[in-house]
Amino acid sequence: MADSRGFRIVEESWDNRQIVRLVFESPDRPVNVLTPEVMSALEEALSRFQRNLPSALILESALPDVFIAGADIHVIEKIRNEDEARKLSREGQDILIKLHSIPCPTFAAIDGATLGGGLEVAMFCDYRIVSDNPKARLGLPEVSLGIIPGFGGTQTLPRLVGFQAALDLILTGRQIDGRRAKKLGLADSCVPRGIFAGEVRSFVLKHPKKHFGPRHSPPMFLFREIGCSLAKRSVLKKTMGNYPAPLRAIEAVRRGISRPLSEGLKIEADLFAQLPQTRESRNLVRTYFQVEKFKKLTLPHLEEKQRWAKSHAMPRTCAVIGAGTMGAGIAYQLASAGLSVRLKDVEPKFIQRGLAAADKIVKGLLKKKRLSPEEARDILGRILPTLDAAPLRSAGVVIEAVIEDLPLKRKVFDDLEKAAPAGAILATNTSSIPIGKIAADRELSGRYVGLHFFNPVDKMPLVEVVVGENTSDETTAFAIEFAKKIRKTPIVVRDRPGFLVNRLLMPYLNEAALLLSEGAQTARIDRTARQFGMPMGPLMLLDVVGLDVAEKVAEVLEDAYGERMKPCSVIGRLRKEGRLGQKNGTGFYTHSGKSSDPDESLHAAGGPAAGMSWEEMIDRMILCMVNEAARALEEGIVADAETLDVGMLLGTGFPPFRGGLLKYADDRGIPVIVSRLYTFSEKYGMRFAPAPILADMARSGARFHPIA
Ligand code: COA
Repeated sequence: MADSRGFRIVEESWDNRQIVRLVFESPDRPVNVLTPEVMSALEEALSRFQRNLPSALILESALPDVFIAGADIHVIEKIRNEDEARKLSREGQDILIKLHSIPCPTFAAIDGATLGGGLEVAMFCDYRIVSDNPKARLGLPEVSLGIIPGFGGTQTLPRLVGFQAALDLILTGRQIDGRRAKKLGLADSCVPRGIFAGEVRSFVLKHPKKHFGPRHSPPMFLFREIGCSLAKRSVLKKTMGNYPAPLRAIEAVRRGISRPLSEGLKIEADLFAQLPQTRESRNLVRTYFQVEKFKKLTLPHLEEKQRWAKSHAMPRTCAVIGAGTMGAGIAYQLASAGLSVRLKDVEPKFIQRGLAAADKIVKGLLKKKRLSPEEARDILGRILPTLDAAPLRSAGVVIEAVIEDLPLKRKVFDDLEKAAPAGAILATNTSSIPIGKIAADRELSGRYVGLHFFNPVDKMPLVEVVVGENTSDETTAFAIEFAKKIRKTPIVVRDRPGFLVNRLLMPYLNEAALLLSEGAQTARIDRTARQFGMPMGPLMLLDVVGLDVAEKVAEVLEDAYGERMKPCSVIGRLRKEGRLGQKNGTGFYTHSGKSSDPDESLHAAGGPAAGMSWEEMIDRMILCMVNEAARALEEGIVADAETLDVGMLLGTGFPPFRGGLLKYADDRGIPVIVSRLYTFSEKYGMRFAPAPILADMARSGARFHPIA
């Protein structure tokens, strides 16, 4: 039974040696975390072991797939100032130094996720034995929460794996498996999971002495300075200076690595202390918990139906109709989640293209070692092509992924209703056409639902579950559980054109095209958005999405919402000229291999936007999204501001350090935004007229989110 201290102490005799096993098991949490209580219990236990020294001390976990998931993020969230942060870090470091200096050899036996503080504990042990359990992943993900490791990780990791490898792991937050950990020197041994306990025992018995000193000597002065300066440059290029944590991490490694460990730890604590209370860290932590919540989305009114769907209705076989980019990506995603997929199209050449696209995704993952060759073979083996409707008989869910064309989609479903088994869920990956139109006048309309994936499907975590007017609760519950099963994060959206993400994204993309037509340069527009924190500039995104696709979505939105969504003529013009974007090498950019150069012939020299300020440009692009978001929220497209923020975060990469689109609006101040929108509506047109709800909010002092 779990001990209230967060670990049990088991004393055993192995070959006449007195062994103490400290087995982590949180009493009231699904994973082991290092709360202040666990840390102080650990300190007490270490004092006891010092008085009564065992021959060896082994740290392990009672959980099957988690060693320790790090410091308690809830505690980090509550830190109010630098002093509190420094104290937390120093106290943790002192306890781990006590672990490090206990006079018997210490071992971390790792058979599950070992992250953040969990890895820091393990690194203060003399030895680390890791299993080849794929879930045994080691890493320091702190920068993704806007902080740096504070229990010594910036000092111990470089001493174990060397300066360059440590910087890479700390700055990317990348998690590595046991084999890679052994290769890097982070683990002393990587052993098969099936014989883990026995291997730990023999490793412990073979290592009766402590391991003293670092395993890597510090780099030469010049090498260190050049390495840090290159790392800094690459961080700034990637983050545009929006994230302070990676820069502090570089500083901690740079200043600590050639000093005694005790001095390095002090430097680390001082730098750590500057971060948890920053706006960036607060928003990143908030985002972490929000995303966690949506990964497990349960709607109160569907709870029972979701439970039933999860345990009784998940199919083994699915079908995807349309082997284009989206269809192929969806087929890959389903197959990677262990499902058999029938990929159907009307001509062999389309099928071949789809299979090649799935193959490309798998090869990319193989290259990055995210898949083993066996896994890759199994995934591709689960995608079975068909030109015929007969094999669809066994599919429990059918996902239509043909182009955005209503008559075509309706025709596909006419056939599907005949081919798919009774009871199959009929899903469409429509990106803007309402389910209501696709399922209009159909007897089975209760089984129709939207599963809107984002491109590239294998990388984008979001799925919009689009609930039509006639979609039954059972179908919605199924769709939510199905999205989770295929490792996507669902948000539930109402069936209005463009749903949530495309409806909000299109005004932003359109505004970028308008800026270009008014004289701003392509590179400047895209850089402005990236400096704000968007992962890709809007004109580049239009090229990636494809100008034909963007034009179709824009038309659907203009049809539904009128003048304010009128597409910029540049998009249609480029499409008519056959410039479809990345897919045929020319759009706003000229694409060749990996390089893309802005097409300068598109620049409207001397236009009014040529010298526009950064603030004006970014506000034009972002505030039109905020304005549309307020309308969408009022129309109940999503249930609340949190859903909207998670949708934009996962569907568009809206900068997580800003906490979400509506969190950004709250932070900026609704009255400020409304006043800006009034000014813009006079200057640039009525598309900027503030939504009535937003104007009301400005008057009443309301916010989208409660004050934290
Ligand atoms: N602090 C506080 N809570 C944590 C936590 C941490 N370090 N790590 C996980 N949790 C919570 C999760 O929020 C989740 O809470 P919920 O059940 O209320 O939603 C719960 O523990 C289970 O986590 P979950 O992610 O659902 O479990 P999993 O088995 O899928 O994955 C991990 C396990 C450890 C891989 C994953 O939880 C993880 O990556 N955690 C974050 C680790 C991290 O960032 N550590 C650095 C802290 S500075």
